[in-house]
Amino acid sequence: MGHGKMKLNKIVSTLAGTLAATLAGLCVAFSLSVTSSFASGDDETPHYPLKHPKEASWSFAGPLGHWDIGQLQRGLKVYKEVCSGCHSMDLVAFRNLTALGYSDKQVKAFAAEYDFPTGVDDETRSGKITDRFPNPFASKEEAKESNNGAVPPDFSLMAKARAPERGFPTFVFDIFTLYAENGPDYIYSLLTGYEDAPAGREIDEGLHYNPYFIAGDVLAMAAPLSDDLVDYDDGSPQTVDQYSKDISAFLMWAAEPHLAERKSMGFKVLIFLAIFAALLYFVKKQVWAGLKTEGAGNARSTTPAASLVSATPKTTSAKTTVSKKVVAKKVAAPTVKAKAKKASATKAKKPAAKRLKAGVDFIDDIELVDGIGATIAKRLQGEGYGTLTSIAKLSGKKMAEVADSVGASKRYEREEWQVQAREMIAGKPPRAKVDQDTVARLSAKAKK
Ligand code: HEC
Repeated sequence: MGHGKMKLNKIVSTLAGTLAATLAGLCVAFSLSVTSSFASGDDETPHYPLKHPKEASWSFAGPLGHWDIGQLQRGLKVYKEVCSGCHSMDLVAFRNLTALGYSDKQVKAFAAEYDFPTGVDDETRSGKITDRFPNPFASKEEAKESNNGAVPPDFSLMAKARAPERGFPTFVFDIFTLYAENGPDYIYSLLTGYEDAPAGREIDEGLHYNPYFIAGDVLAMAAPLSDDLVDYDDGSPQTVDQYSKDISAFLMWAAEPHLAERKSMGFKVLIFLAIFAALLYFVKKQVWAGLKTEGAGNARSTTPAASLVSATPKTTSAKTTVSKKVVAKKVAAPTVKAKAKKASATKAKKPAAKRLKAGVDFIDDIELVDGIGATIAKRLQGEGYGTLTSIAKLSGKKMAEVADSVGASKRYEREEWQVQAREMIAGKPPRAKVDQDTVARLSAKAKK
C-alpha cells in the first residue's frame, strides 16, 4: 500500500510539473509575440483601436449579474429616439419588450407607433407585437447614400459582435475576474470617445475622428448623442455619459436577453457542486474508515513484533549456544517473515518472562498493562487472555475482536495494550507504578 501511494505521488507531481512548465512556456511565448507585434506595428500600421475601451461598471457583470430594468428602459428610449433613425434591430421583436417590465398593452401601443410596408403599392400598416424593429432604410443603397457610403450596422448582436482584443496579460486575468463586458464597454467608449483629430491628421468630409473605433481612427457616424437630447422621466442625468451607458446596457440585453437567467443558473449549479463535493468527501471518508484503521493496526503490530525478535538475543544468550544460533537466524530473517514467525518467536521469549526488573517480579498478568483495571482484566481472563504473553502474540485483527468482546474496542489501541505487553515481556518495567500490595496480589494469583 505504501508503495502504491508513493507511485501515485510521483505521477501527480510529474503531472503538476509538466503543467507548470507548459503554462510558463505559454506565458513567455505570448509576451514575446505581443511585444514583437507592437514593435513592428509602431511606425507603419497603427494598432486599432488606438485606445482600449474604458471599463464601466455594469449591473450585469460578474457571476451574480442582473439587469437594471430602469436602465434598460432608458436605453430603449435612447434607441427609439436617436439610433433607430439609422440602425435596425431585426432580431428583436416588440413582444420581447415585455421582459423590460412593460405590459402587453404598453407593448402593443409601442409597436403601433411604427409603420410597416404592406408590399402593395406604397401602402403601410401599423406595427404588431410580433413585428421586429424595422430598418429605417428601404435598401442598402439608400442607407449608404444617406451615410457617406457606410451602412449603419444592425444592432441585434452589436454588443456581442464588437469585442476588441484585450491583449496579454489582461486576457489571462479576465479568466479569473470573469470579465465579459468588452462589448458594452466598447459601445460606451465609442459613443463618449469622439474628439478633435490630432494636429496633422487630415479628415475627409463626412468622417469623424474617434480613437476608440475598432477599425480605424475615423468612422462615418457623427457623434449621435449630446446632452439633454433625450428626456428621462426617472431623474437620471441627461448627459452623453449616461445616455451612452444606458444604450450600451440595452444593446447587451438585445444581444443576450437570457444573460441574467444564465448567470443565476450557473451560480446555483456551482453551489450544488460545492455541496455535492463535500458530501462525496464525507461518503469517501466513511467508506474507507474501516480499511484505514485496519491498515494502521497492522502497521503498528509489525513494529512490536520486530522488536520482539531483536529483543531475543539478550535474553537467550545466557542460556545455551544452541538457542543462540536459532535466534541469530531469526534476527537475520527479513521483517516480512517476522510476522509469520511471530508464534515461534513468542515461544522463544518465554524464558524472558521469568526475569526480574526494577524490584518487581515479572508477573505474566494482564492487569499490569497500564489502562487495564481489575474489571477488564477479569473479563479478559474469562476469554482466556489473562496473561501478557497470550495478548502479545495475537494478530491485530484478533486483538480487535478480543478487545471488542470485553467492551474495550476503542481503548486497546489508544492504550497500546499489545505494545505494553511486549515491552514487559522484553524486560521493561510496567508503565504505571505498581504498588507492593498489587504485586503481592498478582503473584499470589499467578501461583494458583
Ligand atoms: C445618422 C445615422 C446614425 C445614427 C443616428 C446613429 N448611427 Fe451608429 N452608425 C452609423 C453609421 C453610418 C455607422 C457605420 C460607421 C462606419 O463603419 O464607418 C454606424 C456605426 C455604429 C456602430 C458600430 C461601430 C463599429 O465598431 O463598427 C455603433 C456601435 C453605433 N453606430 C452605435 C450607435 C448608437 C448607440 C446610436 C444611437 C445613440 C447610433 N449609432 C446612432 C450611423 C448612425
